[in-house]
Amino acid sequence: MEHLEKNMFMDNTRLELKSVYKNFGSVVALKNISMTTDSGQINCILGDNGAGKSTLVNIISGVFKPTKGECKINDKTVSFLNPLDAMNTGISTVYQSLAIIPILSIYRNFFLGQEPIKKNIFKTLNKDFATKTTIQELKKFDINIEDPKRMAGTLSGGERQILAIARALYFGAKILILDEPTSALGVKESNKVVEQINNLKKQNINVILVSHNIDQAFMLGDKFFIIKNGNLVAQFKKSETSAKNLRTTLEK
Ligand SMILES: Nc1ncnc2c1ncn2[C@@H]1O[C@H](COP(=O)(O)OP(=O)(O)OP(=O)(O)O)[C@@H](O)[C@H]1O
Ligand SMILES: [Mg+2]
Repeated sequence: MEHLEKNMFMDNTRLELKSVYKNFGSVVALKNISMTTDSGQINCILGDNGAGKSTLVNIISGVFKPTKGECKINDKTVSFLNPLDAMNTGISTVYQSLAIIPILSIYRNFFLGQEPIKKNIFKTLNKDFATKTTIQELKKFDINIEDPKRMAGTLSGGERQILAIARALYFGAKILILDEPTSALGVKESNKVVEQINNLKKQNINVILVSHNIDQAFMLGDKFFIIKNGNLVAQFKKSETSAKNLRTTLEK
């Protein structure tokens, strides 16, 4: 439970957007978005197709720069050059489709782009460390893999999502963005992922969950942000709303 201990007593990692705008040519994808999310909470971004959810996520994760406005982490203004830059500040994104590369082994996927290298002159991959760590880190998420040299394509959809989450946490994510993590999954696989997302709260992660599934979002979420046509039209704490109310607000 190393990552658990590492994060458990950590201070809050607060993310704050202040009057963020994003234009694509003449398309105004986001207008005047101001919102705050904190650690140990699941913050849900809800909205219809084309509302601006992915654009918002892409701004937080360093894919896009806002046209106007600012992002702050713990009261410090940040401006990311690219997603790697954001990752180094502790912001990771798990995308539904790009979670893993199926034709690479499970452990290669776990360490993709951040391979542990042996300190010999050949600088070879430290396979023992990589395989052991992969087994150990997945076990923390209730996934028992005997052979991490297996192709990642043989993992179930839910296991792939959890692999991506486990990897992000192992590499120090404090703010974890999940973009529709269960939309491609069946009920059983989806439940597996939901359980692990819920556990992220105990690990003091600031979770930002983009979802179309209102019932699931309501069950998991602590805070809800409703986006329509690029505007943040409402935000609720869980105690202030219900799944029904979220649905009515979205459909209004
Ligand atoms: N690179 C781009 N160039 C031009 N317009 C864009 C670009 N990316 C997004 N948009 C536009 O911005 C608006 C918001 O798109 P966005 O992808 O953020 O929506 P979304 O809420 O994620 O939708 P979905 O639920 O379908 O994923 C849309 O009108 C979209 O067409
Ligand atoms: Mg989207």
